[in-house]
Amino acid sequence: MEIYGIIGEKLIHSSSPAFFQDKFQKLNIDADYIPFELSDIADLPELIQSQKNLIGLNVTIPFKESVIPYLDFLSPEAEATGAVNTIKIIRAAGKTKLHGYNTDVIGFKDSVELLISGKKGLKALILGTGGSAKSVAFVLQNLGIHYQMVSREPKAKAKELSYVTIDANILYDHLLIINTTPLGMFPNIDSAPDIPYHFLSGHHFLYDLIYNPSETLFLKKGKKKKAIVQNGLNMLHIQAEESWKIWQDIN
Ligand SMILES: NC(=O)c1ccc[n+]([C@@H]2O[C@H](COP(=O)([O-])OP(=O)(O)OC[C@H]3O[C@@H](n4cnc5c(N)ncnc54)[C@H](OP(=O)(O)O)[C@@H]3O)[C@@H](O)[C@H]2O)c1
Repeated sequence: MEIYGIIGEKLIHSSSPAFFQDKFQKLNIDADYIPFELSDIADLPELIQSQKNLIGLNVTIPFKESVIPYLDFLSPEAEATGAVNTIKIIRAAGKTKLHGYNTDVIGFKDSVELLISGKKGLKALILGTGGSAKSVAFVLQNLGIHYQMVSREPKAKAKELSYVTIDANILYDHLLIINTTPLGMFPNIDSAPDIPYHFLSGHHFLYDLIYNPSETLFLKKGKKKKAIVQNGLNMLHIQAEESWKIWQDIN
């Protein structure tokens, strides 16, 4: 039986196993999708070696960037973002090669376009500077949306903002706000990024990459101020289907 899976430090939050199990059952595909919790990315080679039927892996927190040195090939999106969420394992002639891709890029692009539905001239704030923030920044740049990143430890060179500097003016000027931090993700559902929510309005679009819970505190606070909100479920489904196409060589 073909094995697929996901690697991450803690996988209790991940809906990917349920998504793929459901897909395999509906389409009568004889395969399994297993969550592999790793305490260190250095454990990846051993996992690949011990799971001989492993064909493909998704990659989640905190390994999207640290997995790169273990890969033999990077797709243009993975190369440009420095983040990988999909690995294809190629075993031939006694050798194993790992190819890295980034399907978060197309997942975020398709779903943020739905949210803003053609609205022009928006500027964005990206909360967090981790692996998925890089995919989000790459997409916004390609869509011609000016953005600023917000970090707990802003790097001046990268022109990142600190949370304490976000005021009414900055929020008035940046109508698209994207949460790429894990704040609010199950089981820590009572946390949210530290921005002054009372300055939000019905002109704002709030996008949360988190999909569990379906409505995070970040989105709840935005909704209260009449902002248009979207969670990361659509992105999750798109990136998962794109991973599947890569594993199956479907173009
Ligand atoms: N819907 C989807 O398909 C999809 C796809 C990818 C990711 N996600 C979700 O997106 C989230 C982030 O994933 P990731 O892989 O980018 O994680 P990550 O690499 O760990 O990065 C998250 C970033 O958030 C900031 N951060 C972390 N802990 C924080 C805290 N306690 N307070 C404030 N900021 C904090 C950090 O930036 P600073 O250090 O600069 O503050 C960090 O670099 C997760 O919830 C993940 O499940 C969803």
